[in-house]
Amino acid sequence: MSLRYRLKVRLLKTRRGNLLWRHWRARRGDTVGSYADLAEYVRRFAPGNSFVDIGCMWGVNGDFAFLAEEAGARAVKGVDVFGPTPEFEQKRHERNSAVEFVLGDCTQPETIGRIGATDVVLCAGVLYHHPAPFDLLVALRSLCRKTLILRTSTIPEMPGVPNAAVFYPMLDADHRALWNLSSLGLLHQVGISDAFEPQQGYGNWFWGLTPSALRSLIETAGFHVDHVATEAFAQTLLCTPVESAFRHELPNPVQAQQVGAEVSAAGVARPA
Ligand SMILES: C[S@@+](CC[C@H](N)C(=O)[O-])C[C@H]1O[C@@H](n2cnc3c(N)ncnc32)[C@H](O)[C@@H]1O
Repeated sequence: MSLRYRLKVRLLKTRRGNLLWRHWRARRGDTVGSYADLAEYVRRFAPGNSFVDIGCMWGVNGDFAFLAEEAGARAVKGVDVFGPTPEFEQKRHERNSAVEFVLGDCTQPETIGRIGATDVVLCAGVLYHHPAPFDLLVALRSLCRKTLILRTSTIPEMPGVPNAAVFYPMLDADHRALWNLSSLGLLHQVGISDAFEPQQGYGNWFWGLTPSALRSLIETAGFHVDHVATEAFAQTLLCTPVESAFRHELPNPVQAQQVGAEVSAAGVARPA
């Protein structure tokens, strides 16, 4: 990683540098985003649609699911690997809400089955917490019928290296320090503030994707990116599922043997 890139990241981690970058990107004509925009997206896409918030609990206690219901969504679900919290239960009770909480890992087929095909899928603050982000995106694609609202933490683009990404676990303290965003107000980043904590599971930060890597993963998983709101360390994307979702179809044993015979006959398979 070049010194120039490290300096750029450090500058963007200062409040002033970050603000200047936002002004510069806005002047360039880019949409500059913020976490606060999520509520507006939910209000825009929820009415009349089924809705699910994947990762609905930490710090928000189902707020986006309740907002979607208030905005006129039907069959609203919130999914998380823990909870429901007392705050979630209280809000559900006070509103006489029909929001359904699904306890489960959204990448597991069993959870996907319980959620079911859903018009609008919100997934905010989850992707960088998964060791296999592509699998998570494929799971979202299998759920999503109309719109994916995806927000995730990212790292600044690396000039000359499109689709670059950083895997955080096992980095030493010096290298982790670059990705520590406490100067921008983040309280604690498990696996970055301190070393990787296996017992914390998805609580860890796994991947620092650049915006180009994120977009390539999303498109490969079977989404069209309709809109991007950029930030120095996060992206919010509005996506629609495309026809050809990624899938590797396993042949049945007879077909598989036939493929094996064809590969051998062609003589193209060599040890790599
Ligand atoms: C950083 S919080 C984001 C909370 C909220 N969506 C927001 O944007 O403010 C991540 C949430 O996703 C949940 N989560 C992480 N991995 C998950 C998974 N594989 N399936 C379902 N929920 C997951 C966490 O438990 C946590 O509640």
